[in-house]
Amino acid sequence: MHKILVTGGAGFIGSHTCTALLENGYEIVVVDNLSNSSRKALERVRIICGINEDTGASTSPANSRLVFHECDLLDQEALAQIFAQYEIEAVIHFAAFKAVGESVEKPLAYYRNNLQGTINLCEQMAKHGVKKIVFSSSATVYGVPDSVPIAETAPLRCTNPYGWTKFMCEQIPRDFANADIARSVALLRYFNPIGAHPSGLIGEDPRGIPNNLLPYVLRVAAGQYPQVNIYGQDYPTPDGTGIRDYIHVVDLAAGHVSALKYIDRHTGTEAFNLGTGNGYSVLEIIQAMEKACGCPIPYQITERRPGDAAEGYADNTLARLKLGWIAQYGIDEMCRDAWNWQQKNPRGYENASV
Ligand code: UD1
Repeated sequence: MHKILVTGGAGFIGSHTCTALLENGYEIVVVDNLSNSSRKALERVRIICGINEDTGASTSPANSRLVFHECDLLDQEALAQIFAQYEIEAVIHFAAFKAVGESVEKPLAYYRNNLQGTINLCEQMAKHGVKKIVFSSSATVYGVPDSVPIAETAPLRCTNPYGWTKFMCEQIPRDFANADIARSVALLRYFNPIGAHPSGLIGEDPRGIPNNLLPYVLRVAAGQYPQVNIYGQDYPTPDGTGIRDYIHVVDLAAGHVSALKYIDRHTGTEAFNLGTGNGYSVLEIIQAMEKACGCPIPYQITERRPGDAAEGYADNTLARLKLGWIAQYGIDEMCRDAWNWQQKNPRGYENASV
C-alpha cells in the first residue's frame, strides 16, 4: 500500500494529523528530527489508534501502519533513503522552526532550516515521482490585515523572518507544481491552533516559556506562572484586547485529511484558510479557560507586542466549499480539551513513561 509521508509528525499539529490519517485508513511514514517534539507523542498516537503492532522483529517497517524515522530534512542522504524505501503517495510537510521571537534573533537559521528542508523534500518528490503535497502554512502570511475576515486573496506580507519563511516556502511547492501539470499542492494557512486530543494523550508541549497565548494561560491556570501578561488593551476592539481565530487542533487535523482527498482529485496549487471564522479576544479566552478549569486566572495589562495585529479571523468559505471541511468544535471544547491535557500532563511529555 502507498504511504503518506508526514514530516514533523511528532509535533503538536503533526501528531493530531497522524491520528486523523490513521483513523481514516491511511498508512504513514513519519519523519521528525525531534528538535521540538517527542517520540512519546507517536507512541501515544499508536495507543489512540489501537496500533499494537510490534515494530521490532515481527513487523517489517514496510508493513507497519505507522513507521517513524528520526531524520532531519537537511540530511539529504537520509531523506533519499526514506524515499527509496517506501512507496510514497503524498507528503504532508509540517517540519519547520516556528518561534517568531527566535526567528528575529536567528533569521539565517530559520531561512536555512525552513527553506532548505522544503527544497530537499520537493527534490526527493521529483526524483521519486511523488506528485502531491500538503504544506503547513500560517495566517502569519497575511501580516497585519487590511480588513477582516481574511480571505485567501488578501495581500500577503509578513512582520518577521518566521512569517517570511512561510511566505517563501509557499512559493516553493507552488512553482514545483507549475513545472509539472500532474502535480498538486494544498497550502493550508492555519489560524490559531489550540486544544488537544479529547483523550488527553497528545497535546501541545512547548519547550521553555510559551510564546503563544493558550499554552501560557494553561500554565497560569496550573499555578506554574503567577499571571497572564495581556499585550495591550488599547486596540480598536470591543474590549481593547487582540482578537484571533482559535481553532481546535482536532478540527485542523481533519482539514489535512480533507486537503489530501482534494489534491487527489485536483492538480495545481490552491491555498486554504483553516479557521473557524469566529474571533475571540484575549480577555474572552481567559474567561473561557476560567470556566474550563474552574479557577480564576490572574492577568495584568502590559505593552503591545511589536508586530501584533488588532484583529484576525478567517474567511473559511473556500475550505467549506472546496474541501467540504468545517470546524466542529467551539471555544469551550477547545479550552476543556486543553485543560484536560494540561492536567494529565503537567510537564508535557517529559518524564512520562509512555
Ligand atoms: C503568533 C505568531 C504567528 C504564528 C502564530 C501561531 C506573533 C507576532 N505571531 O500569532 O506568526 O503563526 O502565533 O503560532 O508572535 N497574547 C497576550 N499574551 C501572551 C501571548 C499572546 O496577550 O502572553 C495575545 C497576542 O497579543 C494576540 C493573542 O494573544 O492578540 C494571540 O497571540 P498568539 O497566541 O501569540 O498568536 P498570534 O499572535 O496570533
